[in-house]
Amino acid sequence: MTETLYTNIARLVTARPGPQRGAAMRDLQVIPDAALLVRDGVIAWVGERTAAPAAAHTHDLGGVAVVPGLTDPHTHAVWAGDRLADFEARISGVPYEEILARGGGIRSTMRATAAASVEDLIALARPRLQALRASGVTTAEVKSGYGLDFGAERRMLAAVRALQPDFGLVPTLLIHVPPTEARAEYVQGVCEDLIPQVAREGLAGAVDVFCEKEAFTVAETRRIFTAARAHGLHLKLHADQFQTLGGTELACELGALSVDHLEASGAAQVAALAASDTVATVLPGVTLHLGLPAAPARALIDAGAILAVGTDLNPGSSPLFSAQLALALAVRLNGLTPAEALTAGTVNAAHALGLTDRGALAPGQRADFLALHSADWRDLTYTLGGNPVRDVFTGGTPA
Ligand code: NIG
Ligand code: FE
Repeated sequence: MTETLYTNIARLVTARPGPQRGAAMRDLQVIPDAALLVRDGVIAWVGERTAAPAAAHTHDLGGVAVVPGLTDPHTHAVWAGDRLADFEARISGVPYEEILARGGGIRSTMRATAAASVEDLIALARPRLQALRASGVTTAEVKSGYGLDFGAERRMLAAVRALQPDFGLVPTLLIHVPPTEARAEYVQGVCEDLIPQVAREGLAGAVDVFCEKEAFTVAETRRIFTAARAHGLHLKLHADQFQTLGGTELACELGALSVDHLEASGAAQVAALAASDTVATVLPGVTLHLGLPAAPARALIDAGAILAVGTDLNPGSSPLFSAQLALALAVRLNGLTPAEALTAGTVNAAHALGLTDRGALAPGQRADFLALHSADWRDLTYTLGGNPVRDVFTGGTPA
């Protein structure tokens, strides 16, 4: 048994364990002059230092604030090539969707990614994941979706599997954009070949679909989701990024873990999410980088939804390598309070991946936590461009 008591914590600040909705997202537990006992990678006790039990080892954190490690519930961290030419085109006025319709955008990343080996993909993704880790991420979801052909999709998931032990990754199979020809056959192949293979080999725990005008229809999404469920996989969805097609309502009906993006969502989608257990995941990096409207996070929380924030780290719509900055942007662009942002980036983000064992500093939870540079935890969502995170601990070990 290994046992360490972390002491000299100016303030320990955490959401309560489990998913939090509505006003409960602001209900943080704040313990001044705190201590945290970790036994075999799991939190055994949290409280005021003066009441702390004795422990085999102690570790003085130097009088700073401690918060839970962040979960980034939405990344596309594995890709090859770049989108710098797209970026210039967009800055001079060509819309993202038009670049995609012309065969660029996501399709250009697919060509580069399909040409890369698993080793190339691992080498490209590692520094991106290191950047996320330094920003406070202790668990990150990584999607496939730049493969198109099934072999390339599997290579992406193999790269995620290889990086998993170093970065605490959760792999998701993303059915991203359809081929330009034989679309019905492709969807059939996804349902009858790719999903069963991925489920059988344990390459991903969830299936995500990009439900949008330039990607998959609601009817195709339903077909893919039905196959995913039949193979015991969770559901996630990219929806309402540009248009409200009905994907959000479908995902809520089928009990998806999360619906992500929501920049174009209106009252009906807010109501559907608030009435469900499906997490509404907002991605402020996309709002900033593509100049899209901000997802209605304020309305979602006020209506009682479970809200999470992710980076959506990807080369086209959100080259955002910091989950801390995603939270800071969610406060500015989506109208979250700092307390709501902390909850959105911890317990609610973990719930968006179906994980209940992390995200809060409470007995029984994984000992994933951050020591900040300062004694005031609010630096986490205040700082823009610097890094308020000093040390990252995963399972009680410095990462
Ligand atoms: O979440 N919108 C669809 N998929 C990604 C973007 C991927 C890309 O542009 O390469 C997203 O924004
Ligand atoms: Fe995405």
